[in-house]
Amino acid sequence: EKGTYPHYMLKEIDEQPLVIRTILSKYQNEFGELSIDEKIRSSVIGADRIYMIACGTSYHAGLVGKQLIEKYSQIPVEVHVASEFLYNLPLLSKNPLFIFISQSGETADCRGVLVEMKKLGHRTLTITNVPSSTLSREADFTLYTYAGPEIAVASTKAYTAQMAVFALLACDIGKLKGLDNDFNPLKELSLAANAMEVIVNQKEKIENLVWEFLGMTRNAFYIGRGLDYFVCLEGALKLKEISYIQAEGFAGGELKHGTIALIEDRTPVIALVTQQHVSASIRSNAKEVIARGANVLTISMEGINNESDQFTVPEVHEHLTPLVSVVPLQLLAYYATLHRGYDVDKPRNLAKSVTVE
Ligand code: F6R
Repeated sequence: EKGTYPHYMLKEIDEQPLVIRTILSKYQNEFGELSIDEKIRSSVIGADRIYMIACGTSYHAGLVGKQLIEKYSQIPVEVHVASEFLYNLPLLSKNPLFIFISQSGETADCRGVLVEMKKLGHRTLTITNVPSSTLSREADFTLYTYAGPEIAVASTKAYTAQMAVFALLACDIGKLKGLDNDFNPLKELSLAANAMEVIVNQKEKIENLVWEFLGMTRNAFYIGRGLDYFVCLEGALKLKEISYIQAEGFAGGELKHGTIALIEDRTPVIALVTQQHVSASIRSNAKEVIARGANVLTISMEGINNESDQFTVPEVHEHLTPLVSVVPLQLLAYYATLHRGYDVDKPRNLAKSVTVE
């Protein structure tokens, strides 16, 4: 039930801090230690390479998940769009583990890959929000995202939940392997949940930015580097699928290889700046588009923010920034859609579960 909320999407955006806290409690034992099913642990540790298979927003979560798993578990990971995987089959490693990331657990493109990989005898793990969904039943193992029912077609809390589960899985495996990671995911995720809460309490500010930057524009660009780039892909998808504004996420350094030709007077460009090691370069990309007339909205993180940035998110661990920086982008998409008078929860041409290939 959406209760007093005008739309499910807004409710689901607001629920994100709570979802992260729920995940933390579900994956902790009574001693406050990370606890993940033993069979899942051994299947991940036993893998010489992980292949993540997903679509849309879940694919974007996989891009972040790859970084977390490689960093904290030291297992190589490839992330693939499900609908293309079987056409462009990579050379598989000796002991692969296939991870299917799917909010609904019903996505036909993922299932197509699952069926084929099972035929080849490979191990499979589904990360899903829906217990007893098809992908959960058919894979060897399941990790739940505990985000609660997601009703709005545009995925929000499922995405942040998926990334939180990856952070926990990555650190759990790293610990079992005896890796020396100075990253406490329980503490850092709980700080990220607090940061999300600070952002959802600034809706009015974000709504005003929509007027100022997205007005009646027909297109918009999102630029970022490192993890911010992946969040740009997600921010752009959110905007296009519900507000119908043509939007693209780009790696800051890639703009000059073609896309910068599209920048005109007043073109909105949303620049994400949460990664300290690339902040100077992304700020210089922002200057390049400003010089060509772009209207740049900078969303930065405390600690590396400039006074002139339009929105600043609270500081969180550098590998968890996507959980936090996506929230203003979800809200931008929400308000842009409201202003245009479109149906936020049920955009045209889209279904919540995509059960056709
Ligand atoms: C975007 C969106 C879609 C889904 C995609 C995969 O907001 O909802 O891109 O992420 O259709 O769906 P699941 O995760 O259910 O497999």
